[in-house]
Amino acid sequence: MALTTSLPPGILFLLSNLPQVVLPPLAASLLLYALRVLYGLAPPAWLAALAYLLSWPLAWTFDVQYRDWRIQREARARGAECPPRIPSKAIGGVDLIKQFGKDMEKRIIAYRHWDFIKEFGPTYNLRVLFENRIFTAEPEYIKRILATEFPNYEKGPDFTFQMRTLLGTGVFNSDGDMWKFHRGMTRPFFSRDRISHFDIFDRHADAALGLMRARMAEGCAIDWQDLVSRFTLDSASEFLFGQDVRSLSAPLPYPPFPSASALSPLPFSSQEAYDAYTAQASTHPANRFAQSFLDAQITSARRSRFTRAWPLMEFWGDKVKRGLDVVDGFIDPLCEAAVRRERERRLREGGGGDGASAKEKEKEEVGEEETLLEHLVKLTDDPQIVHDETLNILLAGRDTTAITLTMAAYMLALHPHVLKRLRDEVQTRVGARRPTYDDIREMKYLRAFINEVLRLYPPVPFNVRYAINATTWPSLVPGGKPFYVPAGVRCLYSVFIMHRRKDLWGPDADKFDPDRFLDERLHRYLTPNPFIFVPFNAGPRICLGQQFAYNEASFMLIRLLQRVSHIELVQEVNPAAVPPPEWGVSGGSDGSDKVVFRGHLTMYVQGGLWVKMTEEPLAGEDAEADV
Ligand code: HEM
Ligand SMILES: *[C@@H]1O[C@H](CO)[C@@H](O)[C@H](O)[C@H]1NC(C)=O
Repeated sequence: MALTTSLPPGILFLLSNLPQVVLPPLAASLLLYALRVLYGLAPPAWLAALAYLLSWPLAWTFDVQYRDWRIQREARARGAECPPRIPSKAIGGVDLIKQFGKDMEKRIIAYRHWDFIKEFGPTYNLRVLFENRIFTAEPEYIKRILATEFPNYEKGPDFTFQMRTLLGTGVFNSDGDMWKFHRGMTRPFFSRDRISHFDIFDRHADAALGLMRARMAEGCAIDWQDLVSRFTLDSASEFLFGQDVRSLSAPLPYPPFPSASALSPLPFSSQEAYDAYTAQASTHPANRFAQSFLDAQITSARRSRFTRAWPLMEFWGDKVKRGLDVVDGFIDPLCEAAVRRERERRLREGGGGDGASAKEKEKEEVGEEETLLEHLVKLTDDPQIVHDETLNILLAGRDTTAITLTMAAYMLALHPHVLKRLRDEVQTRVGARRPTYDDIREMKYLRAFINEVLRLYPPVPFNVRYAINATTWPSLVPGGKPFYVPAGVRCLYSVFIMHRRKDLWGPDADKFDPDRFLDERLHRYLTPNPFIFVPFNAGPRICLGQQFAYNEASFMLIRLLQRVSHIELVQEVNPAAVPPPEWGVSGGSDGSDKVVFRGHLTMYVQGGLWVKMTEEPLAGEDAEADV
């Protein structure tokens, strides 16, 4: 372990691929030697050099051909066939990579997949750089990967290695026993409806909406995505550490100067004044935390472009680590202090033989007021484990809920009648007071609304697992051959695409309509086929924070709707947030999208979600209590 952390990534990569690096030139030199000894032939130096140089591509080509041949043979032996391969015109599918890169600029994510599906069906081999990648948007196969055949699919060494700098070996980034250990340690914390969460949500929702109100009083548009990211960051960090990052105390961004002036007057008289404000905002500790956390995620996600060979791009130094200093600067002292406090507590209570079973019991129980950190240090005193675990949950819980709330406001802006109905439900069930857990459970339309947001804009649109052993996926057409899934193959699956398939959800699948979770469409499509809707994944690795997320999102939306009667989208205030002209007409979409959404690990809206809102507080007790 010590060795692996001290060597530069590039060296480590070459060492772990030593045979591939050393064997080809070794074979070339053997060949040259044999020619000389057996036939007395001594090729000129340039030819020898060429032989060495070509040894790598030749060996590689041979290896690729051999693997392909073996996979075909294994498939035949099982009476199966390989999933159809997406044709590519260039060696290594570089034309596909290029095309996907270009699409990203102008088109809705996954745009090209709709063409592939039309031609090949929802399961195919998207092979690039000589590596098979089985893509699927088929509920039957996603169910196997996540649930029924769970033991045969793992995140895999490639993914976990890629994310190791950021996530260590936490629950999100481990497999096998290590994952079981982390999951077991964390689960009790999520297993109950902890009332104390609502205090956290309430405080931070109030702070966020207060900031929004002040900005609106200036007549300015606000970036709702930025605001709810702060809300979820502060909520998640307080829930985890008992102390929040205080990102809501840092200055909010304004739209760029001066393009916004008509729609959103800026309180700056010059570019210099604007720049000074922006510079001051970006050095605020809370904004630095958020920025470095984001940078670390983007850099980690970008590694997958270079597949397993990413260490060659960061040959002498780990690029993610650099950005993490600020994040660790916040987390590490809290973790260390918690470990210390727990040690002192144990010493105080004396290591007397008061029965191991009582101790065990205490570990499993989670106090109502306990933070996750306080719970973790009861189970382990290894600061690294505590650090990894809390950071994993911060990552898992923050952006996912933030993008849910972002897309929720976006949908409310595009569908005023839905906003009206939700507000009626808030008025009927809650009025102007603070919502409770029971309120949220009872509000059927709100739940349907959130589900519809998660259907069209699942925060984790794409995901990946590796098949450990070779297996087959049964054919879904009568008399068809099953698909062969070779050992070690990368299986990509997309809930984003599955959630928009018209053959699974009906002809209006690309329309936003919360009623599909309430009316006869529910019984026609979802009830008989529950795996067509899996925004939180499914099976043993299902999202631990699902209930937390529903509570958090519901709480914030109720608080918002108690104050606001209309939301207007003003993406024009930031040119970077306006979709390019081709954006609307894309496969799997009804063409009505007015924001650019992209994905790194999770989905986000490019340039922010800029809105103006109309305030019209609901009447009722404690309506203005927080003003
Ligand atoms: C709408 C919000 C959310 C969505 C859509 C969501 C979605 C997901 C998905 C798709 C996974 C599976 C990732 C994978 O295994 O590849 C996952 C895992 C996880 N989520 Fe969430 N999540 C949300 C909110 C939260 C929150 C608020 C928390 C915690 C406070 C959380 C904690 C976790 C954890 C710990 C895992 C890892 C579980 C494991 O690997 O065993 N999530 N989530
Ligand atoms: C994979 O196959 C090996 C050898 O047959 C077996 O020992 C192992 O349990 C299998 N692993 C899984 C996850 O099925």
